[in-house]
Amino acid sequence: MILVTGATGAVGRPLVAALAAQGAEVRALTRDPDSADFPDGVEVVGGDPSRPDTVTGHLHGARAVFLNSRAIGDAVGEFADLARRKGVRRLVALAAYNVEHSLALQPSRYIGDRNRECEAAAEASGLEWVSLRPDVYANMALPLWGGQLARGDEVAWPCPDFTEAAVDPRDVAEVGAHALLHDDLLGRKPVLTGPEAISHAAMVDALAEATGRPLLYRDVTLFDIAEQFDAMGQPPELTASFIARFAAFDGRQAAVTDEVERILGRPAHSFLDWARDHAAHFTNGVV
Ligand SMILES: NC(=O)c1ccc[n+]([C@@H]2O[C@H](COP(=O)([O-])OP(=O)(O)OC[C@H]3O[C@@H](n4cnc5c(N)ncnc54)[C@H](OP(=O)(O)O)[C@@H]3O)[C@@H](O)[C@H]2O)c1
Repeated sequence: MILVTGATGAVGRPLVAALAAQGAEVRALTRDPDSADFPDGVEVVGGDPSRPDTVTGHLHGARAVFLNSRAIGDAVGEFADLARRKGVRRLVALAAYNVEHSLALQPSRYIGDRNRECEAAAEASGLEWVSLRPDVYANMALPLWGGQLARGDEVAWPCPDFTEAAVDPRDVAEVGAHALLHDDLLGRKPVLTGPEAISHAAMVDALAEATGRPLLYRDVTLFDIAEQFDAMGQPPELTASFIARFAAFDGRQAAVTDEVERILGRPAHSFLDWARDHAAHFTNGVV
């Protein structure tokens, strides 16, 4: 049995599907099991892994656990310890490519993600472990740009030449399934990226190609983006970290790895692949 935390998320849902498709017994953990809607054969259980006492019973019989750093948050050390005591033999952590960067340059920490702690907890657990270090997910285009693209054909965003090695979360999920089911990644921290470093402007071009819309990129200042984030109700610390990251890395090429292709035996999905498969989310007036 494999327990997946964060099972309804961008990585968790395709991970559960990939494990089930490969014949593994999967237990999907969610805070809201009634609306979770997983494939037949998946055991869906309710609990909140950020409060490990609510999930003790769900670790029963689990030989491996997928640790989603957002879902578990600050409790990840306690959760890993509980998993060990319940007889779990393997932990696969969802961390991030930037876990070793200054915490000030890790924006998602300010919404509670604990990628560095998640990796450290897996590594210190005494169990078999793998830590996945994905780059920025391609699906970030939705929360960042979906609202603007529902209102019109323009993306107002800074740093058009800033590159991301954007990775499809479905690729992260498939690598996660591999790490849970096979032994070749044990003790490794693979950095998972898409096949290219793609600029913000090129991402918008890819969305235009995928949707057939005449999208325009309007270069705005970091000051403008701070105001945009304020209007979206984002915490000021998150905004400051986002801007600091743009300022720190603008002009550098995002590092691309071949880990996805080497592990899965097929090329990583490009941002354009992701955009084509999600074009319906970027139709004017839909988001
Ligand atoms: N986005 C990126 O570009 C990126 C890049 C690299 C690494 N990461 C890391 O990947 C992790 C996120 O993975 P993901 O994209 O699969 O997450 P996600 O889509 O946000 O899903 C996380 C799941 O965890 C549960 N959850 C529990 N507490 C939550 C909370 N406070 N906020 C949101 N969800 C919560 C939710 O499930 P229920 O409601 O069903 O319980 C949710 O479906 C984060 O640690 C992030 O730092 C993200």
